[in-house]
Amino acid sequence: MKILLLAGGESNERAVSLDSGEAIYESLKISGHIVYAIDPISGKSLLNSDGSYIEYERDETGRAVVPPRASGWSLVKTLGSPAFQDIDIVFIAMHGGFGEDGMLQCLLELAGRKHTGSEMEASAIAMDKAIAKRLCISANINTAQFSLYRLGATNIPDEVIFEIAEKFKFPVIVKPNDGGSTIALSKVEKVEDLKDALELCANESPNVLIEQFIGGREVTAAVLDGEPLPIVEIITKNDLYDYEAKYQKGMTEYIAPAQITDELTVRIQTAASQIYKIIGCAGLARADFIIDENDNFYFLELNTLPGMTELSLAPMAAKASGLEFDELINRMIGSAIEKKI
Ligand SMILES: Nc1ncnc2c1ncn2[C@@H]1O[C@H](COP(=O)(O)OP(=O)(O)O)[C@@H](O)[C@H]1O
Ligand SMILES: [Mg+2]
Repeated sequence: MKILLLAGGESNERAVSLDSGEAIYESLKISGHIVYAIDPISGKSLLNSDGSYIEYERDETGRAVVPPRASGWSLVKTLGSPAFQDIDIVFIAMHGGFGEDGMLQCLLELAGRKHTGSEMEASAIAMDKAIAKRLCISANINTAQFSLYRLGATNIPDEVIFEIAEKFKFPVIVKPNDGGSTIALSKVEKVEDLKDALELCANESPNVLIEQFIGGREVTAAVLDGEPLPIVEIITKNDLYDYEAKYQKGMTEYIAPAQITDELTVRIQTAASQIYKIIGCAGLARADFIIDENDNFYFLELNTLPGMTELSLAPMAAKASGLEFDELINRMIGSAIEKKI
């Protein structure tokens, strides 16, 4: 099959996307596909002339350097160029922002291209954490109590601070409603620290989500084509599953399948499949939950483009069900091909 792989982008998760892209690229090659790989931001190939995957540039903090943005229509031009006319599918390995929020999906759908994962609407819904939580509530799935504010990056109104302090018990979580990789997220223990956390968050996104902090065990439930995969438990050395815990080796231990009762496993898997369905996902997606000491579980968010390195959570869940990485990639291609456009 002829596949156009898209990775990179300009979100905070660029490095993760390029790593996912590399793992997917190697797997697609092993399976004998013809693969083009492009960064939709620069419009440039991610492959060297010998067919090897590029090494990307990192800044001093280890984040991938974002290349200059080509004209907004570079991807449209790429899709229209003669070389890509006979592409069978587009494999999306983007995380966060334009790659995951439905815009890229919209562009591909308008161009009549089949792509892996969820379509435009589901991608946009899942990217909006508050909307995904409201859908959960409508399906009687627990999610932490929350409030959504639209704030400027400076001059946080005192009324907002008062309102939060009145409505919630501390600690609370402050996070961008449309962010990822635990960036600009804070656990706030006392009202005095709220302002800084709100400013940090509003600098990342004007849509600031306040959530009741839920203490407990963290698990993630991947769903493939509507069917739940084994649950993975995340045990991190840090207080939260933050950026360092997510991407620095040795900071977090993963247990697949999670050591929880069969009954709780089924309840969480059922909830994850239900959320996948009400959001309208396709292909692979992954929902995050926290389980409290009474075995009540709370939905945090659903990722329509989960990390796809061989060590990422969704591939780990697939492996625990006997589905190796290369088979998972081919399953994702299979579901994309079956889509009606
Ligand atoms: N309400 C909450 N209670 C406790 N921990 C939370 C809560 N919300 C987020 N976290 C912690 O922060 C991490 C990231 O939050 P999440 O909503 O999944 O956003 P992201 O898109 O950044 O992954 C979670 O994996 C969890 O460790
Ligand atoms: Mg998460």
